[in-house]
Amino acid sequence: MEEASPPLRCFRDSHSSELFNDDGVQTVTSREQRKVERSIQEVYSVYQQIHTSPHREQQRKERERERTGCLDASRPWLCYWILHSLELLEEPVPAAVASDVCQFLAKCQNRTGGFGGGPGQHAHLAPTYAAVNALCILGTDEAYKVINREKLLDFLYSVKQPDGSFVMHVGGEVDVRSAYCAASVASLTNIITPNLFDGTHNWILSCQNWEGGLGGVPGLEAHGGYTFCGTAAMVILGKEHMLDLKALLRWVTSKQMRFEGGFQGRCNKLVDGCYSFWQAGLLPSRDFYHTCYCLSGLSIAQHFGNKDLHNELILGRDENRLAPTHPVYNICPEKVAQAIEYFHQLSVPVQTGPTPSAMDQS
Ligand code: FPP
Ligand code: ZN
Repeated sequence: MEEASPPLRCFRDSHSSELFNDDGVQTVTSREQRKVERSIQEVYSVYQQIHTSPHREQQRKERERERTGCLDASRPWLCYWILHSLELLEEPVPAAVASDVCQFLAKCQNRTGGFGGGPGQHAHLAPTYAAVNALCILGTDEAYKVINREKLLDFLYSVKQPDGSFVMHVGGEVDVRSAYCAASVASLTNIITPNLFDGTHNWILSCQNWEGGLGGVPGLEAHGGYTFCGTAAMVILGKEHMLDLKALLRWVTSKQMRFEGGFQGRCNKLVDGCYSFWQAGLLPSRDFYHTCYCLSGLSIAQHFGNKDLHNELILGRDENRLAPTHPVYNICPEKVAQAIEYFHQLSVPVQTGPTPSAMDQS
């Protein structure tokens, strides 16, 4: 027998009053917002019909097409998005597959110590973060030993700037993602030296703007992705209390759209499932990135709500319950603990590369 589930918020009679109100002023973005709400209304009504006709679901599946994209420079990201989605779904990874992933990621670690987007590609902080997270999810001795910690530390120093910020790669752009990627990999693998993050918290603080969220660099509009990165980095550095947390919370909650229930990344932009994690729901997305972050956002929603309401936080059957995810590193908490236990038996490497102040800043 079907279990009775509570009525979805979007099927409540009062819900249409939550449609976007443009206050009589039409703009390009207000028209886009209306279009999104109309298409979401269609998705909701198809969902309602599926529950009365399984044939409709079959038709819907037949209409769906695989999307492909050029992800050649994001291969460690694919490993992380897929492995993290599987760990949230509590699907085991066969040992042979895990070992293949280790061998593949080992080929991505560049001789400068950072990981590239694929074998032979330049080291970059984003795939470095993805590779370290993927290896910590696998959590085997083989996986941990892929990471050359001494070289990784050299790489972090090579991208550190005198003002505390980090460039994404040597000669690349600065933004708050890099501070998070650096803080995440350095803290997980226990390579934080006394001066590696000198000035970083003050630089991140300067990215919080009048909106309450954080922009990519000081002076830019607040964005959910950057706000997550800056806040999580501040948590890792033990400095989150220095942020204006009240303004931050007000901004993040204001990014949840009333009608769709999903989060937009920034003011006057459209909702997107990945912000369910970056900003703190669930919309269908058919790619590894959105599968990973939609599941991560759903896991956060299921595990970090009011404990008294826990049964109501799981929509439908109990099998819809996901494993918890760690809100800072975004891998499962026991994998964070296991990696920290492993790497903290090892000493912090002595820095051998150039210090940031000695680096050419031109
Ligand atoms: C805007 O794209 C998106 C950005 C400018 C970057 C967002 C940053 C993240 C998602 C964080 C990445 C994290 C790591 C660890 C590398 P858009 O204009 O297409 O989207 P929007 O309309 O939703 O703003
Ligand atoms: Zn997205």
